Amino acid sequence: MSKRVRTAVFPVAGLGTRFLPATKAMPKEMLTVVDRPLIQYAVDEAREAGIEHFVFVTGRNKGVIEDHFDRQFELETTLETRGKNQALEELRKDLPSAGRTSFTRQQEPLGLGHAVWCARDIVGDNPFALLLPDMLFKGEPGVLKQMMDAYEERGGNVIAVEEVPESEISSYGVVARGDGPDSGFPITGMVEKPKREEAPSNLIISGRYILQPELFSLLADQPRGAGGEIQLTDAMQTLMHNQRFTGVKYRGQSFDCGSKIGFLTANVVYALERDDIRPGFVRELRKLDLEDQL
Ligand code: G1P
Repeated sequence: MSKRVRTAVFPVAGLGTRFLPATKAMPKEMLTVVDRPLIQYAVDEAREAGIEHFVFVTGRNKGVIEDHFDRQFELETTLETRGKNQALEELRKDLPSAGRTSFTRQQEPLGLGHAVWCARDIVGDNPFALLLPDMLFKGEPGVLKQMMDAYEERGGNVIAVEEVPESEISSYGVVARGDGPDSGFPITGMVEKPKREEAPSNLIISGRYILQPELFSLLADQPRGAGGEIQLTDAMQTLMHNQRFTGVKYRGQSFDCGSKIGFLTANVVYALERDDIRPGFVRELRKLDLEDQL
C-alpha cells in the first residue's frame, strides 16, 4: 500500500509582477476571489483531500500569509461583542489546527524547483502534495481529492493535467500521455514551456502534484532550465526514469489566477455561485448593459 500523503507544500514566494501595483506590498496569494484569498482556496482544497500539515515556502513581504493562518484575538473579540457569531465561526473554521503549519523561506527567486527544494527538511522522507495557489479549481470533489484516489490505486507520483488551446501551450509544463482512463493514465514524458511545435500534447501540468521525496535529491543538483530557472518539471522528468508518474485529467473548471483574465473570470464565476451575492450582482450587471460590449 502507498504511504499516506499528510503534508502539502504551497510555494508562495513569487513576486507577483503581473499584478503590480496591487502586489507591491501585498502578496499575490492574498488577492481575493470574492472574499477569500487565493491561498485559502488552496488550503481548503488540501484539507478536503485529507492533508494535515501545511508547509508554506514564503519570501520577503509575505508575512501576512502567516498572519492569515493565525488567530486574531482583537478581531475575534470584536465580532463576539457584536454578536457576529457566524462570521466568527467561519474565521475559526478556516484555520489549520495549532502546530499544523510550517513556514520556510526561499531566499532567492531561483524558480519553482528551488522553492519546492526549500521545503525538503520539513517534508522529510514522505510523499507530499504540492499546490500552486495561482491555479484555482472548482471541482466536486476538489482536484487534489481526485488525485488522491488515483494515488491510492497506483502509488508513485500523480500530476493533474488539463487541455489548453494550442496558443497557450508554451506558457506551461506539458506532458505526453500513455494509454489509460482520464482518472489515471501513465505519463510518458514531460517538458517545461516547450515551443508550440515541440509540445508532446496539449495537456498541461495544472499546478497540483503528489510527489515522492526522492525528488528532493534531484532538485538539489538540478541545473537551470527554461527561463534560466530551476524547474520542477526537469527534475520530475529525471525521476520518471525510476518512478511511475500518473496523469489525472480532472473533472472541473480551472482559473489561472496568475493572469488578470483568469483572476477576473474567477471572481465573476464565484460571485454568481453565491446565494448571498448573486441577486444583487446580477442586478448591477444588468444595469451595465454589457451586451453592447460583449
Ligand atoms: C509552473 C510550472 C508549470 C505549470 C504551471 C501551472 O509554471 O513550472 O509546469 O504548468 O506552473 O501554473 P509557472 O506558472 O510558475 O511559470
